[in-house]
Amino acid sequence: MSENRPQNSINESTERAVKTEMLAPRFYRTDYAAFEKLNIEPVRAEWDTMMREFERDINREHFRKEMSPDLSNLKSDPDLHEEFIDLLVSSITAEYSGCVLYKDIEKNINNPDIAAAMKYMARDESRHAGFINKALKQLDVAVDLGFLKREKAYTFFKPKYIYYATYLSEKIGYARYITIFRHLQKHPEKCFHPIFNWFEEWCNDEFRHGEALALIMRADPKLLRGHNKLWIRFFLLAVYSTMYIRDHSRPGLYEAFGMDPTEYDYTVFEITTAISRQVFPFTLDTDNPSFRRGLNRLLEANLAIAEAKEQGGLIGLVKRGVLSAKIAFIFARLYVLPTKNNEIPDQVAMVPAW
Ligand SMILES: [Fe+2]
Ligand SMILES: [Fe+2]
Repeated sequence: MSENRPQNSINESTERAVKTEMLAPRFYRTDYAAFEKLNIEPVRAEWDTMMREFERDINREHFRKEMSPDLSNLKSDPDLHEEFIDLLVSSITAEYSGCVLYKDIEKNINNPDIAAAMKYMARDESRHAGFINKALKQLDVAVDLGFLKREKAYTFFKPKYIYYATYLSEKIGYARYITIFRHLQKHPEKCFHPIFNWFEEWCNDEFRHGEALALIMRADPKLLRGHNKLWIRFFLLAVYSTMYIRDHSRPGLYEAFGMDPTEYDYTVFEITTAISRQVFPFTLDTDNPSFRRGLNRLLEANLAIAEAKEQGGLIGLVKRGVLSAKIAFIFARLYVLPTKNNEIPDQVAMVPAW
């Protein structure tokens, strides 16, 4: 049936996933030769332990289990329905972006250590994306992943940006999933969709992916020194602030969870920061009142941009220009806030203990 479908009959969720927006997950390409040259000998013992974990594949059956949601409460709450789909579409884009990137790296290199790890990671992300698509399908809005792969714009990222950014997105992904899972364990009546019951094992996959990137960085200490520290700081702030803005754009979702998005985000920051001490020579001080004020100002400016976009016309355009400059200014102020020094531990590997 699907081969008879005209090329342009793409549903709204696929369109949304394909669209490149400032804060939406992107697809990446990189310089594969740098991955070819990676040498993980300095962390060999920890690397081999991690690879045995990947090989064991303990979540093989987890994503095959059936999920039977009762969709009546979602259907009766259009705002929640909309925000839930938005969450699923943005999550599937992020999961599938990881899948495509890891698979591309694997295909383009002969370095056996890195290729094997990338293959396992692509395996997991493909499962994750497939599972989210099951949930979307039950809501009649499955994303066409083949179309997404072909049509999505790809952003070129230098290898070291890939290490910093994917490391952080894996670890923050772990922190997000486990925080929701633990919360719903305590408040099962707030679990409005069964997909959240899958999060515990799921986030352990993300944790392991983050371990691979942590070991890659620790194998080459210059990635964590000198001017690279400026890049680490940039990515920490970019990942944290993007999450803050996006989560605050889904108030209905957090209300349904019985969670305060600000509290949720600071819990996620705290966990991610604790984990990131395995690699980064400093951490962001997310408890600093200036940091918290700065994030709120970013959020306000972002909401104002959305309004100006809606307003349209020349005035809307001018407003957007002014607000973009304001956002850059707030971001720069956040960027120069003092950080906390961190002594990198001898042992890199961590266990997901949250
Ligand atoms: Fe994933
Ligand atoms: Fe992952």
